[in-house]
Amino acid sequence: MKIPLIAIDEGVRIRVDYGDDELDKLMHSLETIGQLQPILVSPVCDPESSFTYKLIAGGRRFRAHQLLVEEGKERFSEINCLVRDDVPAEAHRIAEMEENLQRKDMDWKEYALGVLMYHEERSKEYSKALKKFTDTICGNMLGIHYTYVGKILPVAKALKANDPEVQNAATMLDAINILLRRRQAAMEAKLVKDRPPVEVKKAPTPAQEKTSPTKDDTPTVLLHPVHFSVVDIRTEHFPSLLKCDHVFTDIPYGIEMSNLNVEQEVADAHGVNENIELLEDFWSMCDAMVSPFGWVGTFFDMIHFEKLCTLATSHGFIPMRWPIICDKGPNSNANNAPRQNATKTYESFLLARRPKATLARHVGTSILPWTWAKGERDLYTHNFSKPQELATTLLSMFAKPGETIYDPFCGEGSLVQAAQNFGCRAYGSDYETIHINRAHLRITNSVLV
Ligand SMILES: C[S@@+](CC[C@H](N)C(=O)[O-])C[C@H]1O[C@@H](n2cnc3c(N)ncnc32)[C@H](O)[C@@H]1O
Repeated sequence: MKIPLIAIDEGVRIRVDYGDDELDKLMHSLETIGQLQPILVSPVCDPESSFTYKLIAGGRRFRAHQLLVEEGKERFSEINCLVRDDVPAEAHRIAEMEENLQRKDMDWKEYALGVLMYHEERSKEYSKALKKFTDTICGNMLGIHYTYVGKILPVAKALKANDPEVQNAATMLDAINILLRRRQAAMEAKLVKDRPPVEVKKAPTPAQEKTSPTKDDTPTVLLHPVHFSVVDIRTEHFPSLLKCDHVFTDIPYGIEMSNLNVEQEVADAHGVNENIELLEDFWSMCDAMVSPFGWVGTFFDMIHFEKLCTLATSHGFIPMRWPIICDKGPNSNANNAPRQNATKTYESFLLARRPKATLARHVGTSILPWTWAKGERDLYTHNFSKPQELATTLLSMFAKPGETIYDPFCGEGSLVQAAQNFGCRAYGSDYETIHINRAHLRITNSVLV
């Protein structure tokens, strides 16, 4: 139905700048082809209001009509509308936001603030239904990746708080990077502050390593420096490390983190099929590097058990068919243990051995507790870092002090640190420089190669 523009209240729009070019094109198209789509309005019930309708969606078309009238083209003083009176007020706003946010041509600040507004409105709606409006759901509704939602929201909050540095950023990416750098600086300051004292029980010089144990009977552990390097195992080897006794690691599977946070049934999006090449590269690397008496110990998700075993076997390892279960129990953190998801409430650990390898120690159980020491979890920003106590127990099953341990996916270095404290020579690499830098910063007795 046709309604006069003056009867419609435009209200507060999240979209302030519609872009001159865009409006010009739309005005031209309205003049030549006519209005193809009606705008959405709802009746105004307030008797005090001078308007009869309120604009819900179609702000750009409404503005183009207004401009045409200003140019003296009176035939545009009425606009084709779809009138809806059965939708609650918030839903109107949400519809408008969705429509605007799905356009690609908004100014980045306007866009960030729009996403925040939309997120807040939807969160209210979801919480009424006792549901959580996750970044994944938000991303799906706006047609953007969920990780982008998580980056835009803090930018929008900084804009709202008139953060001068973020306000002056030229692009969304610059603004995101400003906040990221701040988070990193804060985290690094915290790491330095919280770093536990390192007890170097003996200086790790080659001469000392050759000497027999000290005269008193107290067992001494040599704390060798951990060697870190940025290495992508698909294309490179750890510089200067040709062989190792064992590999002790946590194979990455491309888990979509947002899925690990939801209350309802968890649809895991493990990209194991896409990652099969990484597994191939991993086992080839193990084959080339691990000693004939060595072991590969790795955390994994139960659903990948058969794939891991098949690949291990085809690369000359014998996988143990009794995975060790690490029980996160009440100590599980929100990201790693959504309810009803056994693969996240527990983590499993696979041992695969070379034909000549023997087990160093039986731990007497196949279920180990996942226990964080007080404050330990806060030392890491990595989602997959492991507790030291658990890592040491696992390592002690196959490794002995003095042996060389390699973690090719070391993240922030929890496993190599356990290996170091166990008296091993530990090497850790990861393809993310940021993880390696943090690991190096946290472990005082470490070197970058
Ligand atoms: C499960 S996390 C390991 C966490 C680690 N245990 C810790 O203590 O923080 C797996 C790591 O593998 C790394 N990664 C993924 N693909 C890689 C590749 N092709 N080469 C090297 N590292 C990779 C990721 O950056 C991630 O930090």
